[in-house]
Amino acid sequence: MRYDILTIFPEFFKSFFSLGILKKAEENGLIKINIHDIRRFTADKHRTVDDNPYGGGSGMVIKPEPLGSALEAVKTCGLKSLVILTTPQGERFSDKISRELSKYEQLILISGRYEGVDERVRELYVDREISIGDYVLTGGEYAVSIIIDAVSRFIPGVLGNEASPYDDSFKEGLLEHPQYTRPETYKGKTVPEILLSGNHKEIEKWRRGESIKRTFFRRPDLIDKARLNLEDIKLINQLKKENPHYFKVYIALIHYPIYNKDLKIITTAFTNLDVHDIARAGKTYGVKDFFLIHPVKEQRELVKRVIWHWMEGPGVSYNPTRNEALSLVKIKSSLDEALKDIESIEGLRPKVVVTDGRPRENMIGYTELKERILLGNEPYLILFGTGWGIANEIIESSDYVLKPVEGLTDYNHLSVRSAAAIILDRLLS
Ligand SMILES: C[S@@+](CC[C@H](N)C(=O)[O-])C[C@H]1O[C@@H](n2cnc3c(N)ncnc32)[C@H](O)[C@@H]1O
Repeated sequence: MRYDILTIFPEFFKSFFSLGILKKAEENGLIKINIHDIRRFTADKHRTVDDNPYGGGSGMVIKPEPLGSALEAVKTCGLKSLVILTTPQGERFSDKISRELSKYEQLILISGRYEGVDERVRELYVDREISIGDYVLTGGEYAVSIIIDAVSRFIPGVLGNEASPYDDSFKEGLLEHPQYTRPETYKGKTVPEILLSGNHKEIEKWRRGESIKRTFFRRPDLIDKARLNLEDIKLINQLKKENPHYFKVYIALIHYPIYNKDLKIITTAFTNLDVHDIARAGKTYGVKDFFLIHPVKEQRELVKRVIWHWMEGPGVSYNPTRNEALSLVKIKSSLDEALKDIESIEGLRPKVVVTDGRPRENMIGYTELKERILLGNEPYLILFGTGWGIANEIIESSDYVLKPVEGLTDYNHLSVRSAAAIILDRLLS
């Protein structure tokens, strides 16, 4: 692999690649790192590489001519090559991208500075834009070094043992298990006994389990992409049950105060299908209680009878799993009663999240709310409305209003039971 780095700070790289595995790889001819000073490709006597941005604004922009000339000069005919621009606006660098890049014969890496490079360089020369994370560095030198380091590990022979880069974290989409070395006891902490047993099969099993646990707790986002076997899935289900954050989300279906088509406040009637389907979704996603909130006594009595049918009446033998879902249901006459109920269970008033089909300002997104639910200690109550949506007086007193569920079209008329299932999946899966 031949790397060509285009930079205005060539000195930065000298020490970076003069140590350890990369130095050895270069000595052994497995990689070659060429560092090019963009200033060498300037035509003026001041060797100018940057200029003010058109349209005004702070900072400088790297000029297109020297960078374009440098790119044309380093591209080597006959090599399978790729031009990479380091930029916080690029695709997020990953283990998968390192592997893909290691298949090329030449990587040409542009290290930006100031406000970045002129847009026309990107359009004319760049094949791939890479960011090393969602933060902004003062320059691309670290980004380039990180890419070269991670890619080189996948070049056969660089690590000395061809299999080893595939044994580290991200193998099969999982984080690696914990590692220990001598001494057996350090400051009172001993190495897990299984690792001293010499039983390789059991050690492998333990490592796989630890790898699943680490990924589940630290990077739950990776679990979805990981290649899992049946044992792994069993362990994940177990971990979900033990997860302290799992059962602290409550949901409620509100029938008053609700808007009708003309945005007048009304009370809606219970819908049997909503009660069943939201309870089933709630049970699937680990919701603690499902409050049915209705101010009218006769409506509450009616729904109590329906639930009795499935919990204790003839429905029990007809469909025994239905009572598991309906056992989540609690019938209340007001939102305040539901909030008091949660407070008495949790010792804390829950954060109230309203769902609404209409877009508003300052709504919270799914990823942010999911993180708050998983990382915080407070209970949450997610409110679902009926009719044409929950009235403003409740929305205004809530802690968050969740962004409407949106697909790739502008059609926006989901039933509350569909919306509830989608929202629970986005927040609790
Ligand atoms: C201050 S940054 C330019 C940021 C640019 N104005 C923007 O807002 O997208 C200067 C240079 O640092 C490098 N850089 C900064 N953050 C980076 C990141 N997260 N990943 C990769 N390169 C980065 C790029 O080479 C970039 O051209």
